[in-house]
Amino acid sequence: MRCVKWAILAVTFGTGLVAFGQTPARPGPKANIAAGKELYHEHCSVCHGVEAKGNGSMYDPESSEPERRVPPTDLTALSERNAGKFPADRVRNAIYNKGRIPAHGTPEMPAWGDVFYSLKSNPKVLEKRVRDLTAYIESIQTTKKE
Ligand code: HEC
Repeated sequence: MRCVKWAILAVTFGTGLVAFGQTPARPGPKANIAAGKELYHEHCSVCHGVEAKGNGSMYDPESSEPERRVPPTDLTALSERNAGKFPADRVRNAIYNKGRIPAHGTPEMPAWGDVFYSLKSNPKVLEKRVRDLTAYIESIQTTKKE
């Protein structure tokens, strides 16, 4: 009887060790869509709209300021307008302000203030924010990518 007990103990302990050794490798950084959504509503929805359809409150076709008369892009139709493929790079460039969209302000002074720009000294946090925001925009595409 004693032997059996020890055997069970050994097996239990052994399996425990194996399970411990097999702790899955931590997955790579995953985008946090909820965080991206928050960033979107804080910094982009004034122009692109709460539903991201391009009808934010800053847009005013009657405005005397020319930038405010430019209709903001419908951000839910980016894939549709890009042959069904989500143009992640274009979105990232828009956030980084590389694409020089006049309505987005200048790279030094983007329309959404320095939330992204000020993080240039902290590339990890900046990259995370841009990844989260891009993932959120991808998640609201009306035509899902195949
Ligand atoms: C001050 C208003 C304003 C704000 C704030 C704003 N946008 Fe825009 N955005 C525009 C306008 C207007 C256009 C269309 C520009 C054009 O057609 O020339 C545009 C275009 C875009 C495009 C299309 C780029 C392309 O290549 O077609 C993307 C992507 C975009 N914005 C993302 C964002 C994101 C993400 C944010 C928040 C970080 C944001 N925008 C904040 C006004 C704004």
